[in-house]
Amino acid sequence: MDISAVIAERKKVFDDFLHSYLDSLGIDSGIIDAFAYSLTAGGKRIRPILTMLAHETLGGDPRETLPAGLAIEMIHTFSLIHDDLPALDNDALRRGQPTCHTRFGEATAILAGDALIFQALSVIGSADYSIDVKVDLFKAVADVCGTSGLVQGEYQDVVSEGKSLSLEQIQDIYTKKTARLFELCLYTGSRIATGDPGKIRPLVQYGTYLGLAFQAIDDILDVTSTDTVLGKTSGKDLLQDKATIVKALGIDEARAWARHMTGSAIECLGQIGDKHSTVLEELARSMVQRVM
Ligand code: IPE
Ligand code: IPE
Ligand code: MG
Ligand code: MG
Ligand code: MG
Repeated sequence: MDISAVIAERKKVFDDFLHSYLDSLGIDSGIIDAFAYSLTAGGKRIRPILTMLAHETLGGDPRETLPAGLAIEMIHTFSLIHDDLPALDNDALRRGQPTCHTRFGEATAILAGDALIFQALSVIGSADYSIDVKVDLFKAVADVCGTSGLVQGEYQDVVSEGKSLSLEQIQDIYTKKTARLFELCLYTGSRIATGDPGKIRPLVQYGTYLGLAFQAIDDILDVTSTDTVLGKTSGKDLLQDKATIVKALGIDEARAWARHMTGSAIECLGQIGDKHSTVLEELARSMVQRVM
């Protein structure tokens, strides 16, 4: 299987959907201009792609997941806009463009991030899913983004600057700030297809391990890559003395850890019975080798 072709095809489907959503907003608003700028600046779209592939693994049509995948990409983009703010990582470059606050000012960037959260909820609320599915998706969004997930993880990341954390503590930050949103992608894609927890659970667990590996590779690339390739400022973690796995273990051990997490993710796929997903296995293998 040519996994890069699968990724490129799903990415195009998602980007077309995103553009038609933005066109449909049709309101002249400085906030919309700012969040549309960040949403369309670039981005690998790994989260909506994962949402599609989870759905396909359980036999569904990937297009059915597009509104939910869009909502997740909007939440992800809110987290990037706020992550880049001077009070957090203070970054000037994102997705190959000046960061939202650099381009529009801090107040607009904060509010554009806030707006993305609520617009994301509106996209799910307006989607053609059953009431039961929508309620489950709203609950899942709240659970993975609040104090058990993304926002708490970002908080721990910021207050851990300059500290020496154990591997367990770093894994806790990675789980919250990154892996739980990956879980949401797998949960969403599979929940739209089925209400069977036996099918959903292994896919969500795959998402946890994939997200952990993803953040470890992000931290490795921060050291080994360049601004041009990444589309964001490299070398930032060392500068801000971030509590990363690279700081705790060094690059080689961090890479071995990411490979181990990838192996654990692939093992989870064995639990979905005859639905074992070659495409999710290949995706995990390609993610751990990614260069951007
Ligand atoms: C960046 O995520 C933030 C992390 C969790 C490491 P991505 O690497 O998916 O960023 P985009 O969406 O492609 O810009
Ligand atoms: C993940 O961590 C960011 C979020 C969860 C928003 P980083 O701070 O390392 O992400 P980048 O490197 O800025 O994309
Ligand atoms: Mg950060
Ligand atoms: Mg950052
Ligand atoms: Mg990073």
